[in-house]
Amino acid sequence: GLPTRVRIHEVGARDGLQNEKTVVPTELKAEFIHRLADAGLTTVEATSFVHPKWVPQLADAEDLFPLLGDLQGVHLPVLVPNERGLDRALALGAHRVGVFASATESFARANLNRTVDEALAMFAPVVARAREQGVHVRGYLSMCFGDPWEGAVPISRVVRVCRALLDMGCDELSLGDTIGVATPGHVSAMLAALNAVQVPTERIGVHFHDTYGQALTNTLAALQHGVTTVDASAGGLGGCPYAKSATGNLATEDLVWMLHGLGIDTGVDLVRLSATSAWMADQLGRPSPSRTVRALTAR
Ligand code: HMG
Ligand code: MG
Repeated sequence: GLPTRVRIHEVGARDGLQNEKTVVPTELKAEFIHRLADAGLTTVEATSFVHPKWVPQLADAEDLFPLLGDLQGVHLPVLVPNERGLDRALALGAHRVGVFASATESFARANLNRTVDEALAMFAPVVARAREQGVHVRGYLSMCFGDPWEGAVPISRVVRVCRALLDMGCDELSLGDTIGVATPGHVSAMLAALNAVQVPTERIGVHFHDTYGQALTNTLAALQHGVTTVDASAGGLGGCPYAKSATGNLATEDLVWMLHGLGIDTGVDLVRLSATSAWMADQLGRPSPSRTVRALTAR
């Protein structure tokens, strides 16, 4: 059966804006995150403490994070690639961090300047220190369903890196279909393989991109498998810089439309959320790619 409630992990302000050509001013990002919280989202990934040359769009993390201090009861996870990133996040009082691994060598190199195993070795002290401080850690895993350079990615490789992330102490995982090539049978097979090695479904989130229009159907396959944490990006913001044709993450509005239609609770006010994404699209100077945003805000 399907779950009665799904927790949406909103990534628009981080995964979305990091991939936009326009660098959004810090005050606008803060307003965006406040509006996402007002729309009922309870986990709003805020930014990344990465090297500013690698992701100039998020170079204002130190200025942005303190502007969110009034958001009570909303989780504001941030990405940290290494101990330097963790130090920056802890200095600002972050309670939730995420490390981001890769299932493939090509993406580990492109994204982290490391091999897969070197990246895992870089994360181990980050996760250990975060946990010592009572900080919740999410372990992202990119290119789980296909890689722009390597093509097909064996499920066994994904399983190996998932195990490594959990064994080092990550509280939860997010399985990324970074270039949006997954189809539902592949999703089911992946989740079955993870279950077979005792990875509890409660600790698995899914992170789909909509390049081939499969993000919602992939989500449904994951829900049927017991997954209750789904990543999405308001208005479908973002893309993947390493795959020209890749569109953004699954749009949060499209996800909420499907979930509410299925009678699944999200706590999200869809009208408010769509208005927020339409507003952000105006700021970015182009329409939102989300069908639901367009339908609900058509003038
Ligand atoms: P590197 O060049 O190998 O870094 O990059 P390094 O460790 O050799 O250090 C070089 C310099 O960078 C040093 O400074 C460090 O202090 C500094 P120097 O001593 O030369 O003056 N440095 C830092 N500065 C600020 N903050 C830091 C930091 N770390 C080192 N945290 C590094 C390695 C990991 C730093 C780099 O590759 C990086 O920042 N990568 C981030 C890439 C990124 O953010 N990608 C997007 C997120 S992943 C994603 O979007 C996928 C996901 O959405 C899921 C999906 O869809 O698949 C999660
Ligand atoms: Mg993504």
